[in-house]
Amino acid sequence: MNLDKEDEMILAGEYGETRQKMMEILVALGKVFGAESLVPITSAQISGASYKTIGKWGLEWLSNLDSKVAVPSVLNPIGMPRENWQDIGIPKDFADSQNEVIAAYKRLGIRLECTCTPYYLNITNYGDHLAWSESSAVSYANSVLGARTNREGGPSALAAAMIGKTPNYGLHLFENRMPQVAVEVEAGAKYANHFGAVGYLAGKLVGNRIPLFTNIRPSRDQLKAMGAAMAASGAVALYHVKGITPETRLPTFKAVPSETITIEKSDIDELFKEVDVDAVAVGCPHCSPDELAKLAELLDGKKVTKTFYVFAAKGVKSANPEYVAKIEKSGARVVEDTCIVVSPAMDKFDTVMVNSGKAFAYVPNMCGCNVRIGTTEECVDAATK
Ligand code: F3S
Repeated sequence: MNLDKEDEMILAGEYGETRQKMMEILVALGKVFGAESLVPITSAQISGASYKTIGKWGLEWLSNLDSKVAVPSVLNPIGMPRENWQDIGIPKDFADSQNEVIAAYKRLGIRLECTCTPYYLNITNYGDHLAWSESSAVSYANSVLGARTNREGGPSALAAAMIGKTPNYGLHLFENRMPQVAVEVEAGAKYANHFGAVGYLAGKLVGNRIPLFTNIRPSRDQLKAMGAAMAASGAVALYHVKGITPETRLPTFKAVPSETITIEKSDIDELFKEVDVDAVAVGCPHCSPDELAKLAELLDGKKVTKTFYVFAAKGVKSANPEYVAKIEKSGARVVEDTCIVVSPAMDKFDTVMVNSGKAFAYVPNMCGCNVRIGTTEECVDAATK
């Protein structure tokens, strides 16, 4: 791989052991995937931030690093809100370990924005090269924003953050971003507009290929939900929606997949089985301001009868105090920094209702409880009946 003079010096250890290790990670990745060079990135988003997912070995690895990031970098959700973590039943020993993880990342110069929706923080533009690791954020950045990132692991995103570059392969190269399979969504399903469910089914069918949806018109929030679900039930890091996502409008876009698959309407509706639930959680991926507004409207004048968590980035929560106040007046709680899956807060419930295809895919294994999927309206009904 071609490295410039400074990169060679980093690799030789002239800027310290931590930077040397980080460069070794990037070079090893680049060699495995055939990258010819490194490409500068504009930001990094680093997973492996919850103590629930990295445990004591991850914390030990982080604690031994002693350099600073070179580009704006944020974290994926951690395992609890940084303040008032007791309110959602986080045990103290977990909180103590989580706080050590946060302190370790802070020492590295990483902004303590803990979210899977870093694109609401205005750090991403069309064509930017990124090193992001949360699968739904990767999907949104590539597909909806037209930025370019591979799905990084936590260590490779951190390595890229410290060096300010990432190996130039995979989805950083335009020729690798063309669709490989066409997807049609059969008309007539009752839940056809639940794009989390559509994405959940599509991900199972397309695996890690790049799909091109040909007959749907999702909003931005619906694209977010669909991409997150496809990245969870499959391994989709980039998708296109004809006439909607930006790269499909380029003259150089080649929309010629040889295979078409259909998402059957009966398969969509079958996901929505009514079962009793003892908690409701929305905000996977973290809520947008519009999603908070909708929840505030739906909960207006109502009282929740069971635990109802709404997950959002701290920055989005604090920029929308009126919606948050309305939601919390109902007894629901808007929780920042953490999420349905990476927090131990949901593990104690028997059955959790979600409005997210990604949470529907992950909750059984990651939280050890049953899961029901519904629309946002159905989630509010279930939480307030
Ligand atoms: Fe985000 Fe957690 Fe869902 S990281 S996409 S809220 S599983």
